[in-house]
Amino acid sequence: MFDVQKIRADFPILSRQVNGKPLVYLDNGASAQKPQVVIDAMTTGYAHEYANVHRGLHYLSNLATDKYEAVRGKVARFLNAPSEDEIVFTTGTTEGINLISYAWAAPRFQAGDEVVLSIMEHHANIVPWHFLRERLGVVLKWVDCDANGDLDAQAVIDAIGPRTKLVAITQMSNVTGTVVDVAAICHAARARGVATLVDGSQAAVHMPVDVTAMGCDFYAITGHKLYGPSGSGAIFIHRDRMAEMRPFLGGGDMIRDVTRDLVTYNDPPMKFEAGTPGIVQQIGMGVALDYMMGIGMANIAVHETALRDYTRDRLAGLNWLNVQGNSATKAAIFSFTLQGAAHAHDISTILDKRGIAVRAGTHCAMPLMEHMGVGATCRASFAMYNTVDESDKLIDALEFCHELFG
Ligand code: ALA
Repeated sequence: MFDVQKIRADFPILSRQVNGKPLVYLDNGASAQKPQVVIDAMTTGYAHEYANVHRGLHYLSNLATDKYEAVRGKVARFLNAPSEDEIVFTTGTTEGINLISYAWAAPRFQAGDEVVLSIMEHHANIVPWHFLRERLGVVLKWVDCDANGDLDAQAVIDAIGPRTKLVAITQMSNVTGTVVDVAAICHAARARGVATLVDGSQAAVHMPVDVTAMGCDFYAITGHKLYGPSGSGAIFIHRDRMAEMRPFLGGGDMIRDVTRDLVTYNDPPMKFEAGTPGIVQQIGMGVALDYMMGIGMANIAVHETALRDYTRDRLAGLNWLNVQGNSATKAAIFSFTLQGAAHAHDISTILDKRGIAVRAGTHCAMPLMEHMGVGATCRASFAMYNTVDESDKLIDALEFCHELFG
């Protein structure tokens, strides 16, 4: 049974006040808050169980290694990956996508080869491909969403041509909450011998993910949006693609032998993890994933869908508000501007005075903002611990802004 008040009690920060008002945290798209179990796991990790991993034969090193390595299996379960050997730890989605760009794509792509992208990508799934455009002459092929914020999976599939080497696509827009039918895209791409990278930063927070059923080659997640620590993350890499990758960062842990003349590498996935990792961060992410799986991703999705429907209906009643993207299946992520009035930054400052945290700006998605014809928006992004009452507080505050600026 999903009990939002019980969940809220697990997140200590939600009981604090901001500017003299109870915190209404609606900036989950940027980063989610942490439950006490994650905070406790990290405190215990540093206070009682800390040592470097994979390096020592002493008690603490073995303990830290066991706890750290156990997270690989948790990520595999969370994503329904076939094997934990197909999970590489990263510091977040940005590092995961850059890893694929450097270690898999760069050695294989040539001038004129194409990467298909949607206009809804976050900069983390754009800039690593611009690097290949600048350095190798790779061509970026863009597929637009429609005015409703929907992305037609068939249009993405139709953009795949004889020179396409990769489709790199988000499963959920961080700006509009649009959900993309990535399974249709991944299966069609695979049938054409084209690899797929799915940015799961937002989607994995809000809906069950099954990379095996999806049929993707790469699926990136970031711990800090999944109620875990910043600096944690992982990427699923299909074992066939992993076998094609050259090492990226060089250093300890990713090697087997180093001599004056030669180096040989560790087996994957450690071949792609150089240096001392974020040990306690990854352990914290593992606890966060356990926490989410304990509640159940399907239960989280039901709660958030009800919040989405309620908030969408209430926002629709504000005829002076422009909400960007109204896809039927979107997540509870709302980007908006006030017609002809205040800048998004001013709106967010007024909301902040009422204890309401939203993000204002271009949301690391400038091509989408340009496509939608907006300079900056306010974004209210909900999480499993948000309530209908908080939705009402957001609407009240927006009505106040309208009176002030209207
Ligand atoms: N990618 C994060 C956001 O959407 C930072 O706000």
